[in-house]
Amino acid sequence: MAYETIIVEIEDDIALIRLNRPEALNALNGTLINELSSALTEADHNDKVRCIIITGSEKAFAAGADIKEMSQKSYVDVYTEDLFGAQIEAITRVRKPIIAAVSGYALGGGCELAMMCDFIIAAENAKFGQPEINLGVVAGIGGTQRLTRIIGKSKAMDMNLTGRFMDAAEAERAGLVSRVVPTAKLIPEAMAAARKIAEKSQIAVRTVKEAVNRSYETTLREGLLFERRAFHALFATEDQKEGMAAFLEKREAQFRDR
Ligand code: CAA
Repeated sequence: MAYETIIVEIEDDIALIRLNRPEALNALNGTLINELSSALTEADHNDKVRCIIITGSEKAFAAGADIKEMSQKSYVDVYTEDLFGAQIEAITRVRKPIIAAVSGYALGGGCELAMMCDFIIAAENAKFGQPEINLGVVAGIGGTQRLTRIIGKSKAMDMNLTGRFMDAAEAERAGLVSRVVPTAKLIPEAMAAARKIAEKSQIAVRTVKEAVNRSYETTLREGLLFERRAFHALFATEDQKEGMAAFLEKREAQFRDR
């Protein structure tokens, strides 16, 4: 399907979704959010796709929600359309793993979009921030909530109150990103990580995603029970038999997602 604001390529079981509004540093306008949401749903339903990467350009992953599109809206407008509600939250219902490959600016909604992915690989030039305070508003897609759970209150307050940007090294120290790679190697590194995930049993992969995400929604006791039951449940799969047999026979496992 042809899109106006994103480019989708499928290679080696990986869907690479590139945000593509260079004139606005990939600002998230209504069209981009709709297109991203349909591309993700399509990739989630495509049997040939085992992992998804969302990326932007070298200069910007995304510089936030589109300020031009929002500036004249009233409370009634944004409340009625539920701006940044169900449409963008659909990303969090995708069951396949999503890697955010972030180069350049990931600000406001851009940082929030990256945090909605399952993990973030950052290029050395990445800059994260929640500068909504400079516009007289606050973050609207998780900048005060997901960011606080990920990096803690003190840093989240600092980012949201001062609007300062965090570089890749600080983002890695704070646990916002899983690894930092040279800028020119961002896509090859993200593809390599995606290929590693694509080799595993996809039943176990989806279970990991469900279990880790559960840790954000529940108590430790309930989360541990969920994890243990998920671990038990995987003993019903052929892939568990194959994975353990392959280890004992000192060979590579051949998973069949069963
Ligand atoms: N929305 C709309 N257009 C944007 C944009 C945005 N968020 N960010 C950048 N652009 C546009 C600029 O208007 C400019 O367009 P023109 O050439 O037509 O003027 C073009 O992209 C290039 O931007 P700059 O000239 O500003 O580039 P720069 O290199 O000098 O600065 C920047 C880069 C620091 C990222 C700067 O563009 C910037 O501060 N952008 C806004 C960041 C921001 O405030 N994001 C939060 C948005 S609100 C939000 O996201 C709410 C939420 O939580 C849901």
